[in-house]
Formats: sequence, C-alpha cells, structure tokens
Amino acid sequence: MSSPPPTASFVIVANRLPVDRVQGPDGEEIWRRSPGGLVAALEAVMHDVDGAWVGWPGQADLELAPFTADGIRLLPVTLSSRELQDYYEGFSNDTIWPLYHDVISPPQYHREWWESYVQVNQRFAERAARAASQDGTVWVHDYQLQLVPQLLRELRPDLTIGYFHHIPFPAHGLYSQLPWRDQVLRGLLGADVVGFQRGQDASNFLTAVRRRLHLDTKGTTVSVPGSVPRTVVARAFPISIDTTPYVELAARPDVRARAAEIREGLGHPKKILLGVDRLDYTKGIGHRIKAFGELLDQGTLSVEDVTLVQVASPSRERVDAYAQLRDEIELAVARINGDHDTVEHTAIRYLHQGYPREEMVALYLAADAMLVTALRDGMNLVAKEYVATRGDHRGVLVLSEFTGAADELKQAIQVNPHDIEGLKDAIMRAVAMPASEQSRRMRALRKRVLENDVNAWSHEFLVALDAVRRTR
Ligand code: G6P
Repeated sequence: MSSPPPTASFVIVANRLPVDRVQGPDGEEIWRRSPGGLVAALEAVMHDVDGAWVGWPGQADLELAPFTADGIRLLPVTLSSRELQDYYEGFSNDTIWPLYHDVISPPQYHREWWESYVQVNQRFAERAARAASQDGTVWVHDYQLQLVPQLLRELRPDLTIGYFHHIPFPAHGLYSQLPWRDQVLRGLLGADVVGFQRGQDASNFLTAVRRRLHLDTKGTTVSVPGSVPRTVVARAFPISIDTTPYVELAARPDVRARAAEIREGLGHPKKILLGVDRLDYTKGIGHRIKAFGELLDQGTLSVEDVTLVQVASPSRERVDAYAQLRDEIELAVARINGDHDTVEHTAIRYLHQGYPREEMVALYLAADAMLVTALRDGMNLVAKEYVATRGDHRGVLVLSEFTGAADELKQAIQVNPHDIEGLKDAIMRAVAMPASEQSRRMRALRKRVLENDVNAWSHEFLVALDAVRRTR
C-alpha cells in the first residue's frame, strides 16, 4: 500500500509556480525563474519555511508530478490550452487586469471566460485542500485566484486562509461594471485576512462589500454572517523586496565592472536614464518615451548627453492589447531613434528581453535616473530594487504617484505621467540634480526600503492572520 502524499502546514497558492517551463535557445525544455513582482517577493518568503507552493508551470497541458526546486516543494496544477485562453489570457488578463487598473484598456466581458475562471479556481482550491495539513495555513495570491479563499473554506473549514491582492482594487464606480461582482467579493471574503497594497485599495474593497453585499464593516473588519459567523480583516500590507541580493550584488566588483562596461557600450553619455518594465499598458512606457522624445526634438537634451535604456520584458503576448502595445512602442522607439541617433550614439536602447538579476543590478548601477511612470501599479517593485541597489547613495528615482510605492517613497521625484510637460520637467530635474541632493534623497529612500523588506511584509501579514485564528 502506498502512503498518502505528505501534507504541509504552510501552503502558498499562486497562479504561477516560481519557475516556468520554457524552450531554451536550442529548442530544449528548461526551467526559468517566473516573471513579475509576485514571484520575486514570495520566493524569499518560502525559503524560510517548510511549506509547499501550488501553481501552474507556465505551459499548457503539462502534467507534472510534485517536485522540489531551490529547496521549495512545488505542486503543479495543469491548465489545458483552452483554459489558458479563457481563464488566464481571457478572464484574468483581459477582464480583471484592465478593469482593476482603472480601465486603461477596455475590459472584455465573456461568460465562457468566467466559467473557465470558476473551474480553474476550483481546481486550485482542491489541490490546496489536498496539500494542507490539519489546521494548517494557506496563503492565496492575486487576482487570478479570487474565488479560491471561499472554495477552499468550503472544502477545509479547519484551515486558516489568507489572501493577498498584488494589484490595485478599483473604485466602486468601475468595479460595479463586473457582471460577476458579487461572486468575486464572496470569493475573497472566504479568507480570514484580505491584504491589499494601499489603504485606498482596502477601502475600495470595503465600499464594494457594503454596497453590493450589504454587510457591516467597522474600520478594517467585515462581519460575515453564516452558520458560523466570521470576522474578516481587510487592510493594507504594502509589499516589498528581498533587499539582500541587491545590496550584495551591488557591492560585487564584477557587477560594478559590468556597470562601467554598460556605460562604455552606450558611448559614455553624461547621463543614463533607465526604464524596466514588463511590456504592459499599465506601465506608462509610451508616456515616458514621448516625454524623452520631445526633450530631444526641442534640443533640450541631445543623444551625446543622454541615453534612455528601456528594458521591456515580453509579457502576455497572445492578448491583443499587449500585441498592439508592442507595435505602438516599437514604432515610437524607431521614430525617435531614426530622428536622433548618430553613428556613435543612440537615443533609446530598447531591449525586448528579460535579464538575470546580476545584469539588472549592473543596469541599476549604471543608471543616473530610474523612470517609473506607471499609469496604475499595485506596488512597483522595480522602484524598490533600484533603491536597494544604490548603496553608493547616487541616482534619482522618478516615480509615478499612481504606484503603490508612491505612498512610501516620498523622497522620489513624484510625477503624474499623464502630464507630459510635468514628466519632462521631472526628467530635467533628475538629470540636473546635484550629488548632494541625490545622496540626501537616496539615503532616506534606502532607509525606508531596507527597514521594510519582504520579510517584514510577510511577517506582518502572517501575524495578522494568526491573530484572527486565535480569536476563532
Ligand atoms: C504581476 C501580477 C502577477 C503576475 C505577474 C506576471 O506582477 O501581479 O500575478 O504573475 O504580473 O504576469 P504573468 O501573467 O506573466 O504571470
């Protein structure tokens, strides 16, 4: 008789596993670190606990047995290619993603997508229910899995369930567009603690709960009636990064040498501006490029003086809005470069690629200013990575006020990316900022980021979850 598979007292459930199955350069199958801020943040948390991670391995129709990678026990969930289209590319990334980012791109509402979302959420809930030990803790993550808390509670009422929402939660006027708005709220309320990035996100959620479900809320708690009445906590827990690898890599001589090599490779411009984003319409890449292009057109900046390096990592390429964005950005970059490049210098070095962390740190070190101009962003961990890297107290962070990070990183130059003149002024301030002011601002930013790292974030969330468990 075979023994039942082992269970874990702490289980993370996220759409993606921390590693992705992809094709290597010679067509061979390899594992690669998954994209995005969620995985970047959670990887660090998992290394410190004896737990398991339930998620999708990044390819359709891939049936895999549980395995261990980097010391983390991984429990793969299979998605069919139809589910990839309807649940992932459709409902998650063409309905919820644009709706929750203030309708920057119009959300598509399709009943088949919703049905697939319900089915896949059920599968994740069942996998987590099998993985968790008696009275264990399950921490569910992000907008792809908003129904899992309630589905899991129905299967395993003994569990303590947390949910963290990594992206914005929209104002009620927008949220109420969602044809399945009540079901999603009930799904989330299956958790004991529902965490958000900003106080505003939590308050938008609480408003939706009052107006749609007519439940009582008091401060950050919701009273949920039922055969066993419960109290759900909904509040902000701003996420952060694991600062250690950034601080360590930034001090390594080979990484510093690579930063110098990058500057040289760009023809030693006086200043390097840097943008690092997934190629996503929420990131305001077009606004940033427009502002930079106008500064070149006006002759305020020249390509001998300043180069913009834009890393735009490929993302969700089969979703129309992303394919369209790619065309728009690449046309804009080509026009600006065509107008302004010289044989020796380029205006925008555009890189449609993802890079390992070493190379990112070298780029952060090479950059005199980091431009984060998102139109809406749950947090933006790139801003925090830049700050963690700059132990030399040099460099300027230009930061959109529409990011979660703007609530904390007050010493950045904050901008409204829709205001192109304001954005141009911010770029010029960054380019001209004296070293003494850079240092004063960067010290304050670093204090904030180093003291509030991802460990502090997960600790705070799990303490809140434990407090609810103890009152049950
Ligand atoms: C954001 C989301 C994550 C997501 C990541 C990458 O950070 O909050 O949930 O995993 O983007 O996007 P992808 O669709 O490739 O998983």
